[in-house]
Amino acid sequence: MTPSTPRHTSQADTPQEAGKRAAGEAAADWIRDGARVGLGTGSTVRYFLLALGRRVKDGLRVHGVPTSHDTATLARQLQIPLLPEDDAWTLDVAIDGADELDPHLHAIKGGGGALLREKIVAAAARTLIVLVDHTKCVPVLGTSMPLPVEVTPFGWPSTARHLQAIGGHTPTLRTRHGVVFQTDGGHYILDLPLHETHDYARLEALLNLIPGVVENGLFVNRTSTVIVGSPDGVRVTHRDESSPV
Ligand code: A5P
Repeated sequence: MTPSTPRHTSQADTPQEAGKRAAGEAAADWIRDGARVGLGTGSTVRYFLLALGRRVKDGLRVHGVPTSHDTATLARQLQIPLLPEDDAWTLDVAIDGADELDPHLHAIKGGGGALLREKIVAAAARTLIVLVDHTKCVPVLGTSMPLPVEVTPFGWPSTARHLQAIGGHTPTLRTRHGVVFQTDGGHYILDLPLHETHDYARLEALLNLIPGVVENGLFVNRTSTVIVGSPDGVRVTHRDESSPV
């Protein structure tokens, strides 16, 4: 698809910020009236939510399922109606960001710690549209960051040892401002550096077999469509050209 120029540019935007904004605003245009939408987490999705909020104000009818407390708070501020957390939702689409995206549209997520809810919501959606700025595209996953793995606080050092045995590198317990980071679900994150030549589908499944692992941030064969934003606009790639978005 030909890149299209973002409509809400700001003089203050860095190239990366302009890319996030372009991707987020483009995604909001794709939401159809009546859609049930998974609402991802992060600074790129924020632009999507702001644009979606403008459309809701203009009369678009949607229902969202937020993937984090932060997203729920912003969605409420924007008066985007939300479905109850404990519904058996089936969603038309989930819109989310990613920390890394490879040429096969496999992704690493969880830089913000919302990977568990993000994967649950993506699994409930017919399609997953991933929004990234151009800096997130990497040849191989694990290039710029380790893989986030969400674990139970109970026995986490033991779980870390198992992760090391599978991943080959020592994971790091994530902290923020000097204290252990806790997810919205009250879990910890172990950040696991990756080898270069992993079979990602196998690794995603293997990691989740370790007792104490709640979920990992590999999103393999889940992404239907990617919107890559840059200061020049957006570029859209579909996994399967025949799949409806
Ligand atoms: C949240 O846990 C993540 O999976 C985010 O979707 C990811 O970190 C992308 O965030 P940014 O858009 O802020 O880079």
